[in-house]
Amino acid sequence: MVMKTRAWTLSARPERLPLRDHFALHEFADPPLDEGAVRVRNLWLTVGPAMRVRMSAETRGYLPPYDLGMPMGGWAIGEVVASNAATLSQGDLVIHQYGLRDFGQGPASAFEKLPRPGPAPEHYLNALGSTGYTAYVGLVEIGKPQPGETLFVSGGAGAVGSTAIQIGKALGLRVIGSAGGAAKGRLLRELGADAAIDYKSSGSLVDKLAAAAPEGIDIYIDNVGGAHLDAALALARPHARFALSGMISSYSQERASDTMHNLNRIVTQRIRVQGYLPFTDHLDGLGHFRDQMWSWIEAGTFTPLQTVRDGLDCVPQAIEDLFAGGFTGKPLIRL
Ligand SMILES: NC(=O)c1ccc[n+]([C@@H]2O[C@H](COP(=O)([O-])OP(=O)(O)OC[C@H]3O[C@@H](n4cnc5c(N)ncnc54)[C@H](OP(=O)(O)O)[C@@H]3O)[C@@H](O)[C@H]2O)c1
Repeated sequence: MVMKTRAWTLSARPERLPLRDHFALHEFADPPLDEGAVRVRNLWLTVGPAMRVRMSAETRGYLPPYDLGMPMGGWAIGEVVASNAATLSQGDLVIHQYGLRDFGQGPASAFEKLPRPGPAPEHYLNALGSTGYTAYVGLVEIGKPQPGETLFVSGGAGAVGSTAIQIGKALGLRVIGSAGGAAKGRLLRELGADAAIDYKSSGSLVDKLAAAAPEGIDIYIDNVGGAHLDAALALARPHARFALSGMISSYSQERASDTMHNLNRIVTQRIRVQGYLPFTDHLDGLGHFRDQMWSWIEAGTFTPLQTVRDGLDCVPQAIEDLFAGGFTGKPLIRL
């Protein structure tokens, strides 16, 4: 019997923001399962900002562009339904990158087995996965926080940002978050932020950050780039640490158009600025991080923020909404 997979494909490359019409659902016939390979029925999918970078024709990120008309990838959780590998058995739960489709198939080495019994599997797409680890590496390993210091987090109502805010409070920091709109500002307060900035309201971002942090900031987790990074530079205290996880404000522009006014403060304030890819350079610490994060969740110190939608059909709308600010926390799609 021929196995089939329904997968979302990129049908046209967006020039600016991705819209639902840029995607099409196709059915693909899968080859027979190779020796050492497994087939997985997906249970949970997610969408993330890095997907936009892969929608451009040229390589702009650390992952290759999506091919038009071919299945797109992304993080997913699935259950093994067939296995030709000694390391995985039918019924195992796995995390992998054959996302945005109903079935995934490939070498067993591309699938990480999840512990059973253990945390609900969807946690591995959020707090215990790439999202949580990106926030943790940026704040703990690069930010090197000291209790009482001031942390600024852009994209504060998003997946990484909402995680960084809560970890910052767990570590005894004064935390300022920024997000678009008053409702998201209230959410940042509920997450524990000491001050919230609405970057979409009138007025300069530098003035808003100066009002929230009159004595400046010690650590900046940059999820947004552009004007947010420039404002953070303007308010950086001596020896501040900047962890740059990504720059969503530039992903839908073919060329960055932001003008930076405060780069000289990297020198005068002796700021340490570091971009990072946690799953490239920091994999050794993932196990320890998961233990720490799960103990925070079990103790009620940390509450994963996520928005759940249902069904494979909602994928293109979820991608459109992600860039329009339509989610809080991590978007999760339940199949
Ligand atoms: N280095 C890594 O390995 C790694 C891993 C994961 C994520 N990342 C990066 O971390 C950042 C956050 O990722 P995430 O998954 O947590 O996404 P996210 O922050 O949940 O992204 C969606 C949010 O971004 C905000 N946004 C969209 N366009 C914006 C703009 N032009 N200016 C300011 N905010 C804008 C919107 O919130 P508002 O409503 O507040 O505008 C939206 O809700 C991204 O830059 C991503 O690429 C890096």
